[in-house]
Amino acid sequence: MPGVLHGKNIVLGVTGSIACYKALDLASKLVQAGALVNTIMSYGATRFVTPLAFRSITHRPVVTETFDPDSELSVEHVALAESADIVVVAPATAHFIAKMAAGLADDPLTTTILATRAPMMVAPAMDAHMYDNPATQENLSKLKDRGVLIVGPAIGRLASGLVGMGRLVETPELVGNISALLGRKGDLAGYTVVVSAGGTQEPVDPVRVITNRSSGKMGYAVAEVARDRGARVVLVTAPTSLADPVAVEVVKVGTALEMRDAVKDSVAGADALIMAAAVADYMPVSPASQKVKKDSDTWSIGLGKTPDILEESRGRFIKVGFAAESEDLLENARGKVLRKSLDLIVANDITAEGSGFGTDTNKVVLVDRDGGVEDLPLMSKHEVAHRILDRVRQLL
Ligand code: CTP
Repeated sequence: MPGVLHGKNIVLGVTGSIACYKALDLASKLVQAGALVNTIMSYGATRFVTPLAFRSITHRPVVTETFDPDSELSVEHVALAESADIVVVAPATAHFIAKMAAGLADDPLTTTILATRAPMMVAPAMDAHMYDNPATQENLSKLKDRGVLIVGPAIGRLASGLVGMGRLVETPELVGNISALLGRKGDLAGYTVVVSAGGTQEPVDPVRVITNRSSGKMGYAVAEVARDRGARVVLVTAPTSLADPVAVEVVKVGTALEMRDAVKDSVAGADALIMAAAVADYMPVSPASQKVKKDSDTWSIGLGKTPDILEESRGRFIKVGFAAESEDLLENARGKVLRKSLDLIVANDITAEGSGFGTDTNKVVLVDRDGGVEDLPLMSKHEVAHRILDRVRQLL
């Protein structure tokens, strides 16, 4: 299933900041995701990066003048304004933000912005003092009040050599926010979905933990796809090496007990709980308060059962579990559906190729409470997430 960016008309406004080079990466990622990117550059932007660079990446004409006699479009600002699914200004300079706030229309980008009804996102990039200036802050508040999504800026090293607030946020954060904004009226709009992910870590002593091989990728994919379909998403995650998904509420936990508390708090009022986390089944009964020294040749650790979070979560929400099995897949999955009173279980054979921990793909079987079995082919974890959420949507 194509992602939310596929086939979308994105107007990418680029204004005169050194961060213009990052907009090339953004354009590239959007094109790779299947979007049609129409770039409009301010005069200042063309001094940093050539229109040809954007044209080469987007395979589309780049607009730099309001009245371009060579253009294929008769009146560009009107044509692009009407066809846009979203208008993104990245990077947006202090000067450009001021023009937007004042409602000026003295270049192709400002005219497009005035003429469009599409949702808008602005990613500021400027010197920290310019960002802090009350004039800029007032202009940004005006844009926010008009419904424009402001993303960033981030703190970091600026072109001036100083460290401060003013850096354009990185591409994944821009892409995530664009996806969320495009998806906000999707089929899960108005619903809250709680997703758990990652493998919990159970302390043995202050430096050692017992954990498992879960990468968190499946749960993060579910969280991102649910967001892109318009849901409000709470991601309760055990430690992973993955970046936090944007436009998702992320609750970080370590142990099974912490995950239990966080899930309990998050599911109140939620519409679905999707437990993709690999929760430890056992935890050390009495973790040592000091680091255990290697004085003895063997070491036995007493383990006690953790609470089954999924089983004890009860309420008026759809319950989806995962079952990673190495044998008797369907039988074990069916048993878990009944024992944990689930609506759906996502079962996977961790011994199958391309399936299981750490991979970007998964081969799963969906088993529902009536015993129905949907055997899915090997697909990306994002596609699996779509299929799971299709089923959740039907059940809601
Ligand atoms: N789960 C949970 N709390 C636990 C253990 C598991 O909420 N303490 C959830 C997992 O997130 C998953 C589902 O239960 O969605 C099944 O997990 P799995 O480890 O496959 O099953 P278990 O019930 O632990 O059974 P077993 O390990 O014996 O296969």
